[in-house]
Amino acid sequence: MNGQEQQPGNPPRGPVLQFVAVERAGHVATVTIQRPDKLNALNPAVIGELTAAFRELLAPAEGDEVRAAVLTGAGKAFVAGADIAEMASMNSIAAKRFAEAGHRLAELIETAPFPVIAAVNGFALGGGCELALACDFIYAAEGAKLGQPEVNLGVIPGFGGTQRLLRRVGPGRARELIYSGDMITAEQALSFGLVNAIFPASELVARAREAALKIASRGPLAVAAAKRVLLRGENLDLTAANELEAQAFAALFGSEDQKNGMKAFLAKSQATFTGK
Ligand code: COA
Repeated sequence: MNGQEQQPGNPPRGPVLQFVAVERAGHVATVTIQRPDKLNALNPAVIGELTAAFRELLAPAEGDEVRAAVLTGAGKAFVAGADIAEMASMNSIAAKRFAEAGHRLAELIETAPFPVIAAVNGFALGGGCELALACDFIYAAEGAKLGQPEVNLGVIPGFGGTQRLLRRVGPGRARELIYSGDMITAEQALSFGLVNAIFPASELVARAREAALKIASRGPLAVAAAKRVLLRGENLDLTAANELEAQAFAALFGSEDQKNGMKAFLAKSQATFTGK
């Protein structure tokens, strides 16, 4: 559902969006970036709308929470980068504000209490690759191209790419990609561990939604806790990270979901999770 449309009989909900469409199917949301004439390049308006769309998904009505989301792009690109036409005339102050807006969006996605799957349907370059890296994992379409081409423009990644690429693919691969500015194929990205799986373009979003639906059927408090521990633990030493894990594990024993999940297993039935 585009932000401007509404279901018959439903009151309008959420921000009015021009460049972003948000569809909901049960506990799964699909967010599509829609600026195909500019290959979904991220200008301040697109970044603002994506930020508003994710904030809305974080503030659900009772019982309507998002448990997994898919982020994709309309047309032949996921996102071909930050908007070069808008950046060309920026001074350092404007560039800092722009980078901070990109960082805020990336952090919002990265810290959302539900996994976000990037369905990279085409070019994911610069800010597009960085946006995909802020997601929990990436599925790519056959023929998709990924990369951090900023050095070709005399700059470096500014939306977290130096750090998230490093953490995702390791220092050698990250350095090679960022210093060369080269685009890589989906197959190369798969071999680097940047992409988890490749699908025919026509199946990509459906396969990402299937994965999201499976995640959404699991205990949502458990999935959210796993996401938090995986993210926070990455930057801690192993002892501190394991302590974080033990605390999160223990806290889940105060939930109805833990009681229902284990009771259902023992009764050989399927658990229904409520997120309580
Ligand atoms: N910022 C602004 N506009 C962009 C853009 C970007 N990052 N990427 C593409 N566009 C625009 C093009 O300027 C063009 O607009 P126009 O039709 O008004 O001229 C339109 O999107 C289509 O792009 P085009 O270059 O004609 O498509 P292509 O298929 O020939 O090439 C790419 C695709 C991705 C190889 C090429 O667009 C490209 O190199 N983009 C920039 C990638 C980049 O450096 N990103 C990092 C930015 S920090």
